[in-house]
Amino acid sequence: MSKVIDSFNFTIGRVLAGKYRIERLLGRGWEGEAYQVTEVKTGVQRAAKVFYPQRNRGDRALRAYARKLEKLSGCSALIRYHHTDSFRRSGQPISFVLSELVRGEILEDFVKRQRGGRLTGFEALHLLRAVARGVAQIHQFGEYHGDLHDRNVLVRRRGIHFEVKLLDLSSDKSSTRHRQQDDVIDLAGLLYGMVGGRKWYARQPPEIKTICRGMKHSLILDRFHTSSDLVVHLDGFGWDTPR
Ligand SMILES: Nc1ncnc2c1ncn2[C@@H]1O[C@H](COP(=O)(O)OP(=O)(O)O)[C@@H](O)[C@H]1O
Ligand SMILES: [Mg+2]
Repeated sequence: MSKVIDSFNFTIGRVLAGKYRIERLLGRGWEGEAYQVTEVKTGVQRAAKVFYPQRNRGDRALRAYARKLEKLSGCSALIRYHHTDSFRRSGQPISFVLSELVRGEILEDFVKRQRGGRLTGFEALHLLRAVARGVAQIHQFGEYHGDLHDRNVLVRRRGIHFEVKLLDLSSDKSSTRHRQQDDVIDLAGLLYGMVGGRKWYARQPPEIKTICRGMKHSLILDRFHTSSDLVVHLDGFGWDTPR
């Protein structure tokens, strides 16, 4: 029986598995903690996602995550998988995934940092397009994301564009049309959150409401059967609001 660990809190400078020096905590979630690490031998920077053992029994979560990232290595919006490693803590094996280090900010923090803690409609639609294209790529590979929320999207501005990387795909179930449609609903949910959520929704222009549809799932799916429908819409809709 593995001991429950709900935080690792590695100190800066600690070396994992004799190979990866901890530089800083990148973030934590349900499955584990992600750190920026330096590969001691090469000086190369990586991200290490260290799994809490109780969320990764028999390395199931780690194996599924690694395989799914590898299967989707053609998707430019996903982090690049490198390899896995492990070490022991109080006799218990702890495993981690080494991946590309993404220099970006989680969407939640990016939105909070904006004036009023929300994005303008145009910015939000522009960012949504970048995320929706990433999700459409995943769907084209016959897969689904399954855990699309504002702490699993990393954002970085470049020129007039938003570069996004999607993290943390849920990997325990096989892909179905239904799970892909849940991703479409989550995309609408991301837009809803970016423009200020419930507090600001009533005041949104039609360009936002046509996508969020009051966050009524059936209405969203009536309009957008697939993530590609949403991308096509974002690339070509007409503006109702005079500007
Ligand atoms: N490759 C990476 N580059 C930069 N930050 C990352 C990376 N992987 C994870 N993070 C950060 O760590 C957090 C937790 O990682 P995540 O894979 O989402 O774990 P969990 O499954 O526990 O939610 C993310 O929300 C993000 O802030
Ligand atoms: Mg996460």
